Amino acid sequence: MHRIAANGANIPAIGLGTWTLKNEQAVQLVAHAIDCGYRHIDTAAMYDNEAAVGEGLRAASVPRDEVFLTTKVWYTDLADGDLQRSAETSLSKLGIDHVDLFLIHWPSKDIALADSITALNEVCERGLARNIGVSNFPTALLREAAVLSDRPLACNQVEYHPFLDQTAVLGACRDMGMAMVSYCPLFRGSEMFAQPAMVETAERYGKTPAQVVLRWHVQQDGVAAIPRSSNPQRIAENIGVFDFELSEDEMMAISALRSHSQRICDFEFSPQWDAA
Ligand SMILES: NC(=O)c1ccc[n+]([C@@H]2O[C@H](COP(=O)([O-])OP(=O)(O)OC[C@H]3O[C@@H](n4cnc5c(N)ncnc54)[C@H](OP(=O)(O)O)[C@@H]3O)[C@@H](O)[C@H]2O)c1
Repeated sequence: MHRIAANGANIPAIGLGTWTLKNEQAVQLVAHAIDCGYRHIDTAAMYDNEAAVGEGLRAASVPRDEVFLTTKVWYTDLADGDLQRSAETSLSKLGIDHVDLFLIHWPSKDIALADSITALNEVCERGLARNIGVSNFPTALLREAAVLSDRPLACNQVEYHPFLDQTAVLGACRDMGMAMVSYCPLFRGSEMFAQPAMVETAERYGKTPAQVVLRWHVQQDGVAAIPRSSNPQRIAENIGVFDFELSEDEMMAISALRSHSQRICDFEFSPQWDAA
């Protein structure tokens, strides 16, 4: 598996998403994923599973330092002081002394970005996180955050799949040396898999539509993806994307599905997204 060099961070191109995975199931699946070759796990304070993720890390047969672990602070906890406390609580639940990447989960409309970015930098200075970054930041806010930050931001984690055009965000990330980490990379495993561009390409390579979609993600410069599955076979399937390569035409045919223009994660607290 290749890694994305992102302003000092070295992010494995496929990670395990853990939203909705809880308790013993999360422990088992995190350990299973690492044993299958995953070296990147994504959690968040909001997922209420950090204790289980930490236990899964310890249950796997790989030293902690070989796994790139991301957690996130929720948007209501972005004030100076609250953000650092959220990081401390996450580490205590995870049972580790630092994460590899600490992200602002969503921007806040109420808390000054400058204060949050100062607090985010302090988390890094105190050694609680090796790298810092953001999630769900449209381009204008991303550039503002980068200017405010003393340390470079390693990534912007955003919704990205073939049904959503993220050209603007990806361009901004590349300009600033950041990775773009795709969440909902499989569009939650739905009708997207039935598109002819997926089915035909999958048949051509003897792969599944999910593997074709994940290959499309990681074949783009600077893009990593964090698919989630509660199914051990699919967890193994989703990392099996480094033994084939899509042609330029196949990449373009999949990218053309962006005309569907469908976003899954959009809430009343969402920022103003970039125009497609
Ligand atoms: N920063 C943010 O605001 C944000 C927002 C959303 C998500 N995330 C992160 O991104 C991760 C991934 O996003 P997501 O969980 O929303 O969506 P996703 O990874 O696109 O899709 C997960 C769904 O796809 C199914 N699936 C997985 N592998 C499959 C395969 N090989 N074949 C068929 N179906 C498959 C899973 O079902 P089974 O469980 O039955 O396999 C599950 O229902 C999250 O877990 C979380 O860590 C971050």
